[in-house]
Amino acid sequence: MEKKTLIIGGTKGIGQALVEQLNGHDCYSISRSASNRPNHFVLDVLNDDLPEIEGLTGLVYCPGSINLKPFHRLSREDFLADFEKNVLGAVRALQFYFRTLKKNKGAVVLFGTVASQQGMPFHASIAAAKGGLESLARSLAAEWAPSIRVNIVNPSLTDTPLAEALLSTDQKRENAAQRHPLKKIGSPSDIAKAAIFCLENDWLTGQSIGVDGGMSTLRV
Ligand SMILES: NC(=O)c1ccc[n+]([C@@H]2O[C@H](COP(=O)([O-])OP(=O)(O)OC[C@H]3O[C@@H](n4cnc5c(N)ncnc54)[C@H](OP(=O)(O)O)[C@@H]3O)[C@@H](O)[C@H]2O)c1
Repeated sequence: MEKKTLIIGGTKGIGQALVEQLNGHDCYSISRSASNRPNHFVLDVLNDDLPEIEGLTGLVYCPGSINLKPFHRLSREDFLADFEKNVLGAVRALQFYFRTLKKNKGAVVLFGTVASQQGMPFHASIAAAKGGLESLARSLAAEWAPSIRVNIVNPSLTDTPLAEALLSTDQKRENAAQRHPLKKIGSPSDIAKAAIFCLENDWLTGQSIGVDGGMSTLRV
């Protein structure tokens, strides 16, 4: 059967790399900005009606946030906004596409963060949201087996528009690279490759895959 994959957030960063590298899949994408690629829908996944896509075999949810503040400065609104974008947006899409994914024995890929594996200062809100997303992924992997596979990829700092402020000078980029055991930051392609692996490996579900330059597990 032909693979038909929807990438929510397929116009920038990791999602864009995925759309470009996902050979052999009929790619659909969603974002709030326009694209000249075919099968692109301009909409806000948190609020707008989602398009029906007949025969969908894959769903990738990319929208996310990096909202780093000391814990005492994080407001209830900060926590709610991070939870809404990272978790509830994914929930909305997963509930909408559940039936078609089930019918087609589909695969889901979500994105967490290294910061829910390894404690990092100022990450309380995003780590709480992404930690929730990771647990959601495992719960759904169990609930939906054997019909739908669900996996989550946990990147560390990756060179995308989302991370722009953290990588805005050569010094910041170098410092960020040096914090990683592999002495570099991630590229969108590094992370997209892991998402492709999750989409295509039919014996993989319920997994959290760290693609993080060794950050989550190594001290060197
Ligand atoms: N980059 C990193 O360093 C890093 C580190 C750890 C985890 N991650 C996670 O990896 C995932 C991908 O990150 P990224 O860096 O590639 O993000 P990005 O550069 O911000 O790209 C996100 C994509 O999602 C779309 N999007 C955002 N909000 C949307 C909405 N409400 N409705 C529809 N589309 C929306 C964006 O397009 P529009 O803005 O045009 O809508 C864009 O295409 C995220 O979940 C992020 O939390 C990233």
